[in-house]
Amino acid sequence: MTNNLRYIERIPTAAEFQELRTNAGWGIPPESALKDSLAKTIFGVCVEDSDGTTIGMGRLVGDGGIQVFITDVIVHKHWQNRGIGKQIMKSLMKHVENVSSPATFVGLFSAIGREKFYKTFGFITRPNEKLGAGMVYFPAKKDGK
Ligand SMILES: CC(C)(COP(=O)(O)OP(=O)(O)OC[C@H]1O[C@@H](n2cnc3c(N)ncnc32)[C@H](O)[C@@H]1OP(=O)(O)O)[C@@H](O)C(=O)NCCC(=O)NCCS
Repeated sequence: MTNNLRYIERIPTAAEFQELRTNAGWGIPPESALKDSLAKTIFGVCVEDSDGTTIGMGRLVGDGGIQVFITDVIVHKHWQNRGIGKQIMKSLMKHVENVSSPATFVGLFSAIGREKFYKTFGFITRPNEKLGAGMVYFPAKKDGK
């Protein structure tokens, strides 16, 4: 029942973050990095079911005004495809609209095959005629793979 879900503007706890990332099949950062990272989140949204269990989250990182990145948008597998991810994105984008200026840049790295999900919120893929490729570097993996 998605009617009983609560969308709360807050940063996920370390436990919730670990649980949802594990459910998504993603790696868990080391504990100290994780706590530091969560504390520096500029805006977060958590979705709680009727038992108070967090079944979805999303967060914004960056400088809060000019450079903003969307990250860790996850809905627990059991709850996917019911419009919850879309609601999480709406909440994140509402915050972006509130803090944005003509100079605001909102970035994200889509997981493979999830581009359509973000395109509905106005995101464009790159490279294109005007923009170079988005790039990423993993310090722990010097070969970049
Ligand atoms: C991506 C994710 C957050 C979507 O959440 P969700 O609650 O299942 O999505 P919704 O039910 O709100 O669907 C919203 C729209 O996205 C589409 N969509 C949902 N999951 C999708 C997927 N895996 N691939 C492509 N499109 C998807 C839906 O079809 C829907 O489109 P519609 O409005 O045209 O019908 C969820 O699948 C998830 O947590 N995946 C694992 C973690 C992940 O990959 N996160 C994204 C990292 S970039």
